[in-house]
Amino acid sequence: MAQRIYLDRKWRFNEEFDEEMIEVPMKKSTLINIPHTVKETPASYFDESIYQMVSAYQKSISAPIQWKNKDVFLTFEGVGHACDVYINGKHVKHHDCGYTAFTINVTRHLKYGEDNLITVRVDSRETLNQPPFGYVIDYMTYGGIYRDVYFEIKDKTHFIDVFLQPSLLERVSTSKRTKKQIKMMKVQGILKTECYITNSIYDLAVDDHAFIRQYLGEDLIISQPVVGLEHVEGGYIFNISSAPATVKLWDIENPVLYPVKTQLVIDDKVVDEFEANIGFRSSEFRKNGYYLNGRKVKLRGLNRHQSYPYVGYAMPESMQRLDAKILKEELAVNAVRTSHYPQSQYFIDECDKLGLLVFTEIPGWQHIGDNDWKDIAVENTKDMVVQYRNHPSIILWGTRINESQDDDELYKRTNDVAHKYDPTRPTGGVRVIAKSSLLEDVYTYNDFVHSGKNKGCRKKSDITSDVEKPYLISEYNGHMYPTKPYDSEKHRQEHAIRHANVLNSVAEETDIAGAFGWCMFDYNTHKDFGSGDRVCYHGVMDMFRNPKLAASVYSAFSDSENVLEVTSSFDIGEHPASNLGKTYIITNADLVRMYKNDELIKEYTPADSEFENMKHGPILIDDFIGDAVENSGEFKKGQAKLVKQALNQLTIEGFKISPSMLWTALKLVLIHRFNPSKAVATYSKYIGDWGNASREYRFEAIKDGKTVKTVTKAAVTEAHMEIKSSHTLLTEWHTYDVANIRIKILDQNNNQLYFFNRPISFEVDGPFEVIGPTSISPVGGAAGVYIKSIGEDGDGKLTIHCDGLEDVQIGLSAECLV
Ligand code: GAL
Repeated sequence: MAQRIYLDRKWRFNEEFDEEMIEVPMKKSTLINIPHTVKETPASYFDESIYQMVSAYQKSISAPIQWKNKDVFLTFEGVGHACDVYINGKHVKHHDCGYTAFTINVTRHLKYGEDNLITVRVDSRETLNQPPFGYVIDYMTYGGIYRDVYFEIKDKTHFIDVFLQPSLLERVSTSKRTKKQIKMMKVQGILKTECYITNSIYDLAVDDHAFIRQYLGEDLIISQPVVGLEHVEGGYIFNISSAPATVKLWDIENPVLYPVKTQLVIDDKVVDEFEANIGFRSSEFRKNGYYLNGRKVKLRGLNRHQSYPYVGYAMPESMQRLDAKILKEELAVNAVRTSHYPQSQYFIDECDKLGLLVFTEIPGWQHIGDNDWKDIAVENTKDMVVQYRNHPSIILWGTRINESQDDDELYKRTNDVAHKYDPTRPTGGVRVIAKSSLLEDVYTYNDFVHSGKNKGCRKKSDITSDVEKPYLISEYNGHMYPTKPYDSEKHRQEHAIRHANVLNSVAEETDIAGAFGWCMFDYNTHKDFGSGDRVCYHGVMDMFRNPKLAASVYSAFSDSENVLEVTSSFDIGEHPASNLGKTYIITNADLVRMYKNDELIKEYTPADSEFENMKHGPILIDDFIGDAVENSGEFKKGQAKLVKQALNQLTIEGFKISPSMLWTALKLVLIHRFNPSKAVATYSKYIGDWGNASREYRFEAIKDGKTVKTVTKAAVTEAHMEIKSSHTLLTEWHTYDVANIRIKILDQNNNQLYFFNRPISFEVDGPFEVIGPTSISPVGGAAGVYIKSIGEDGDGKLTIHCDGLEDVQIGLSAECLV
């Protein structure tokens, strides 16, 4: 039976490639493991030229004599960006895309019973004539062999590919069902499978030697002789279809995956086996929205790049999976767009597992090149579809170059290819031009109309060229309001509110399938974009995946996590003219009680939110005083009411004389005989709180009658670090493992100290390494570090030190499964 051998370990790497290396072992080189980046970078202020080079990777591999009668394939899951593979001095493959996998049949190039020299020339220059290159790009395109490499050893007769097409036998409707009911639902599903088999199947099939067996979980669902082959390029297609089976749904609420084993059996011997997880679901874009299992689901997603600080694209399985978990579990989105290229299979696998819907697309950014370039784009479409079509989470193929001009000829080709290789899913294609030519099934458009004061999105009818077709917003916000984690409080709040504004507007538009915010986290970019430091601060998280305030607008959609954020620290000096301005509560609680110095000021419920299309939109705080003015005894009744009104108004609107403010002031002075000379003292006492012993606002989030979260805002008296580790047991299987450790600097009440920037240093003991610098400054009161295993078993620890704060230690273990 087929066997897979990972080849991620112990490659030799040289930043320069030389023709000589094709035939002889490299003299000067460093020993590396894959995923690998050609150049580690600083987190900011570096130039994209540093990863642009033609480099060399080399590995010597012995091919056992037993492989002689087999077929041997060599797969590279991702090499940035063009590469040439040589085996024992002979050129065996050129590949032109940094984001798709490629496989080489190396059977006749290997020397069996001997060592074989594999050399890879990797070109990571952005001058290449292939997508996404040719003009400017708003992201860095890092080079290297950054995804897994493996051999597969197969019998001569084997599957070239297997395309699993599960479907539901009848239309289901989950619209009136609770989550629990969706979970319990049983439906009738069938599985159609297209088996693409090598040419040698033909004679075996004719002589009745060949069978296909298929298991759904443990159950044998098909055992069928191979008859009725269809000849195609490179082999034969054999289609099979299972009998109806009672199955559970794959749904965002309960993504049930079924492992499927498809076996090619020759003379009772399994010669090849293809395994994948499938999900039974119906997924449909209709004119008026997106439907999953017959239920209208508003897609609420974020765009994800595949980059990380220091190592660019080179992160192993656990880190790819972590991003999917963060999206689903921390940001509570139900969808992700893999902008602007196909991403790691591990990431998509995790989306399958978690029930996160995926819109994936071909590589590219605005620019369309010449005919050679276009041929590669068409090839990329085919590769993307064929390589990812077994994932239940994928619901839409992006078949246009992101934000490019119309090019009907090219896009007819990409659409045809996508439909040919996957008739089960629709195509979309991301554009910024309204009413542009629509060859796809879904009009997907980057709607950047929101600028703070206006509506969050445009109407479908203003944008699409065919209102009969579905419409989806593929990006919003982003460059419209870059936000650094250490920007002023007002700025960070505005960032959050803009995300809420768009979500609220999209929710109102019943014919918009949903929207994907730009974007999940900050990313390194080219000089033409970003803030001059080669960083685009467009994320709702920072580069280490620490949440900004805007992240909580998404988290508040969560049913499982309790969210309570208050957008201000109440330090008035952080605001121009000491005017606090608007402050919001972001929560998914049923009720929030606000206290000032233990006195209840006000209770807020979701109905108080002005974001009326959101179940849990941000809630504006409109009272900072409660009954304090009335209870002080300083004022008569009518006077107290107006004083309170004026003070709250001053807090939110500042010292500008609005007509309503003037009216309140006139009433106070003329009718209620308020002495204007007391105004400043009154303000200081109830709002400014100057000179008072302490001012403490406390917020309690109540759910089902219980206090589930408390936020307390008071003068900072202490700082400490809070650590969140992705995992502490690092497992090495076919390559190293990496743990992500997120660090926040918090005060005594666990509020983030956004302007804390004392250096933090890292020290590891045991079989681990720190990726990147061992000392950094927190950015916006948060930082992060990646710890890597080094191929040895053992225990150790990470010590995080910051001057003046208590050290934090994290116990780490490494286990090698090889
Ligand atoms: C879009 C583009 C994204 C990113 C974003 C910033 O135009 O597709 O890649 O640059 O703008 O808002």
